[in-house]
Amino acid sequence: MLGRLLSRRSITRPLGIIQAVSRQSSLRARSSYIAHSNSKVKRIKTKEEIAKEKLEEQLKSENRFIRWGAIVRTEKFTKGMTKYLIGAYVFFLIYGLYFMKKMYAKEKELEKLEAKQLEGKANEFETLRIKELRGKLRTRDERKLAQYREMTWDENQDSSQYDHVTLANNNENNTNKKILPARDTTDFYDFKASEYDEGVNFEEKAIFMGRRRKWLMKYCKGDVLEAACGTGRNLKYADLSKINSITFLDASEKMMELTHDKFRKEFPNFKKAAFVVGRAENLVNLAAGGEGQGVNPDTKVKYDTIVEAFGLCSLEDPVKSLQNFERLLKPGGRIVLLEHGRGNYDFINKILDDRAEKRLETWGCRWNLDLGEILDDSGLEVVEENRTHFGTTWCVIAKRKGDLKKNEEVGFVEKYVSSSIKNKIEAYANVEGSSKKLNDAETTSDK
Ligand SMILES: C[S@@+](CC[C@H](N)C(=O)[O-])C[C@H]1O[C@@H](n2cnc3c(N)ncnc32)[C@H](O)[C@@H]1O
Repeated sequence: MLGRLLSRRSITRPLGIIQAVSRQSSLRARSSYIAHSNSKVKRIKTKEEIAKEKLEEQLKSENRFIRWGAIVRTEKFTKGMTKYLIGAYVFFLIYGLYFMKKMYAKEKELEKLEAKQLEGKANEFETLRIKELRGKLRTRDERKLAQYREMTWDENQDSSQYDHVTLANNNENNTNKKILPARDTTDFYDFKASEYDEGVNFEEKAIFMGRRRKWLMKYCKGDVLEAACGTGRNLKYADLSKINSITFLDASEKMMELTHDKFRKEFPNFKKAAFVVGRAENLVNLAAGGEGQGVNPDTKVKYDTIVEAFGLCSLEDPVKSLQNFERLLKPGGRIVLLEHGRGNYDFINKILDDRAEKRLETWGCRWNLDLGEILDDSGLEVVEENRTHFGTTWCVIAKRKGDLKKNEEVGFVEKYVSSSIKNKIEAYANVEGSSKKLNDAETTSDK
C-alpha cells in the first residue's frame, strides 16, 4: 500500500508548498491506519453512504410505517411525485375550466327559462327544468322529467317541443300505499298527552334533537305563532327578549294545557301570550276571531315568525295548514319548520314505509310523508332547506310567494355567480322598516 502511494507520488508533477505540506500530512494520516503489513484498511464511510444504507435497510423493514416513510424519501418517489403534482394541477385546471363553462351554460339556460316563465310562456318541461337547475326537484318532478326525457322526439330541438304536453301528476304521497291516509288526530293526542314527553325524551336525546329545536327557536322574533305546539317542548329554547307576542296553537286541549303550565312556570311575567285550542286548518278563521279562544276579533292578526315542530306529520291537511300560515304572515315574515318525513335513501324510506302503521298507532304521526311535495303544493317559497338523519329530519325556512329574499339568505354562489338573482335581493333593513307591528294587541287568554 505504502509502495503504491510512494510510486504515485513519484509520478506527480512538482507541487507548490501548500500542496506538498498537505500531501505529506495526509500521507502521515493514512500511514497511521497501517498496523501490520497483512491487516485490512477500514475506510470511514461518508455521511451520505451511511444515510443511503439506512434508507435501504428501512425500505426492507417489516414495519409498514417505517417502510412507507423510507419510500417517500427515495429519489424515485420525489421525482415521480413532482410529475404527479404537475399532472394533478393540469387536470384540475382543465376540469375547473370545464366546470366553469358548464356552470355558465346552465346559468344562461336558467336565465332564458326564467324570463320565459315570467312571461307565463314556460311549458311544464321548462318549469321542471328550472327547478332542476335550481336543485329543487321533488319526487314527482324527478319522475316527470324522466318521462319527458324518455319521450324526447328530437334531440336537436329545444324544449319548445314539449309546448303542448302536460304529464299526469305522480305524487308519492298519493301513489305510495304505505303512506297512510290523513286523519284528525285530536282525540289521539288528548289521550297521549300525559305520557307524551316521557315517551319522546329518549328518542330525541339519542339523535340530538335539542340542537334542532334550538335552531328552530332562534328565528322567533316579533309576533310569533307556534303551530301544533304540543306539550311545549320548544319553550326552553325561546328567547323572549326578541319576542313581542307569542301565540300557541294546538288541536288537543290536553297537550295545550301542558304548554300553558310550562310557559307560566318558565315565564310568569310575560303578558303577551295566547294559548289557542284549534286546528291549523281553521287558522285563518281563528285569527279573525271566528273560532277558538283568546283571539280578539278586531285584531288584524299577522305574524313575523310562524314556527312548527313535527306538526305536518300529524295534521289532517298539511297543505291547507301551510297555506293558512302564509296568509297570516307579515311581509318579510318567515315560516320555520322542523319536521320529519321521507329521507334521501331508499333503504331508509323502506324502513319508514314498513313501520308506518306502527308509528301511526304509537305516535299518531305519518313519518313517511314526502314533505317536499307538500311544501311545493302549499305554494310557499322555500328559502332554506337542510336535511339531516339520512334526510328524514327537515329544517325548512319558507316565505310568502313573491316576497324577496333577505340579503343574508342569498348564498355566495347566488350572490356573486348567478346574475339572475342579483335584482331579487332585498335589503334586510327595508323589510324590518316596512313590517309594521300589526299584532301589538294583547292576546293573552290564560284559561
Ligand atoms: C307530534 S306532535 C308534536 C308536538 C310538538 N310540536 C313537539 O315538537 O313535540 C303533533 C301535535 O300536533 C297537534 N295537532 C294535530 N292535528 C292538529 C291540527 N289539525 N291543528 C293543530 N294541531 C294539531 C297534536 O295535537 C300534537 O300536539
